[in-house]
Amino acid sequence: MVTYSQKVMEHFMNPRNVGEIEDADGIGEVGNPICGDMMTFYIKVEDNKIKDIKFKTFGCGAAIAVSSMVSEMAKGKTIEEALKITNKSVAEELGGLPKNKLHCSNLGADALHKAIENYLSKKSRGEGRKES
Ligand code: FES
Repeated sequence: MVTYSQKVMEHFMNPRNVGEIEDADGIGEVGNPICGDMMTFYIKVEDNKIKDIKFKTFGCGAAIAVSSMVSEMAKGKTIEEALKITNKSVAEELGGLPKNKLHCSNLGADALHKAIENYLSKKSRGEGRKES
């Protein structure tokens, strides 16, 4: 039987920051080719910091726990700090994931990084909202 750490179970049962940000500054969507699950992150950036973050995950319990953890780790961080969050560090924060569920953690940091890239490219094209 697969056993999950308490932290994984806790985040799965009470995921933080679920939802969508309508006027998000950056959106990142990734799909897992192995299982077809999808994860989308929305970020709101102010003064180079992730002021708000939300996610929608259509996936397994591990993927939901991973999204929840990524959102907690990224909230309040600067863009540079948030880019340093890796799939590995997320799995570690969760107290590890069963080996056959490690692929699920691959979505988390990737989706976050994509949302940040989306924000940065909007900003460099001058389409993003003005930074205060
Ligand atoms: Fe699809 Fe976990 S089984 S992300």
